[in-house]
Amino acid sequence: MTMIASAGTVGLDLVTAMDKFYYKNKSKKIVPSDDADENSLAESMLNQIKTNHSSSLPQEFLDRWDEVKLYSPKRNVKNANQILIKTEDGAYSLKNKLNHLTGKKWTIFTCSWFIFNALKSDLAEEKRICGDSVNHPATYSPTMIQEFVEFFTKEGGLVLDPFAGIGSSLVACQRSVRVGYGVELKPEYYNTMLKRVPEFSENIVNGDSSKISTFFQPNMFDFSISSPPYWDVLNRSTKDFKKSREERGLDSTYSDSETDVGNISDYESFLDELSKIYFDIYELLKPNAYLVVIIKNVKKGGVFYPLAWDLAKRLSQKYSMKDERIWIQDKVALAPYGYPYAWTANILHHYCLIFRKEV
Ligand SMILES: C[S@@+](CC[C@H](N)C(=O)[O-])C[C@H]1O[C@@H](n2cnc3c(N)ncnc32)[C@H](O)[C@@H]1O
Repeated sequence: MTMIASAGTVGLDLVTAMDKFYYKNKSKKIVPSDDADENSLAESMLNQIKTNHSSSLPQEFLDRWDEVKLYSPKRNVKNANQILIKTEDGAYSLKNKLNHLTGKKWTIFTCSWFIFNALKSDLAEEKRICGDSVNHPATYSPTMIQEFVEFFTKEGGLVLDPFAGIGSSLVACQRSVRVGYGVELKPEYYNTMLKRVPEFSENIVNGDSSKISTFFQPNMFDFSISSPPYWDVLNRSTKDFKKSREERGLDSTYSDSETDVGNISDYESFLDELSKIYFDIYELLKPNAYLVVIIKNVKKGGVFYPLAWDLAKRLSQKYSMKDERIWIQDKVALAPYGYPYAWTANILHHYCLIFRKEV
């Protein structure tokens, strides 16, 4: 190991000259190399990486460049193409085309299900910034969406939500240094969104997503994520839900507008209209960009409608369907549906359908 005298001392206080190269040992642990030549070569390679790749490196690595190490699992320093800061966070591959995640964080996200309940901190943020935002009857947590945004884009990526509501997806973009774009039909929700993400005001449209092609340019977005109305489910919500919200002066449906897709009562017409909007979005996405649609299977008049599966089938006519992630809510009180006669589920899972514009 090379040792040098640290500044201000005369040989007594020795420090490690370099701690720049890491590899995986026989026990599969990521460890530092104690070979001076490897460390020295790694240091010059890191300098080159910073010069040649600075515009595409994750900001955290650039901010903490002094702590960055070169990593090769097989201890091949000349061909090393991964960097890391802390071994426990995993390494970032310079070949990563999709996002700014380390392999370890990437892998965690690939689990096909996750449990997520609305976070108190997100609800508090909503209330602090916009006060009246709880008026929207069906929002999701920016924290949950942030994980999707960080997986499917790099920092600075352009993200579209065509059913933006009060802007939770755009808050996720704000927190993860992406650029949020959104369309929302109802002026009240649009105004709340403006308060929440004023920096994206130029990117937000108060309008009807069936005209989305006229709002944005083709091949513009790196990613789109949204949760559309789950058919007309809010128009059929339980008396208790309606009553408890109306008593507090809150919306129990989105709007009375004819262009609100949540007001289409015929199932096939709803699927047609929704698919058309997502087909238009196909043209707005960059080649190979992903689309995520968060939706649920629903019941109407005692009949089960596989809305998530039917939409998946429709959108697969144009997109390449990649997979799904199942979002589970495990903190919602169960109602005694069907008791004591027949099976009726408390549906507490949603499908995050994952598509890609493969060209
Ligand atoms: C499930 S909510 C989305 C909530 C949003 N994810 C949030 O957390 O704020 C669906 C939204 O779609 C909006 N919407 C319905 N039809 C629309 C249309 N044709 N164009 C744009 N927005 C529409 C509704 O007003 C509602 O706010």
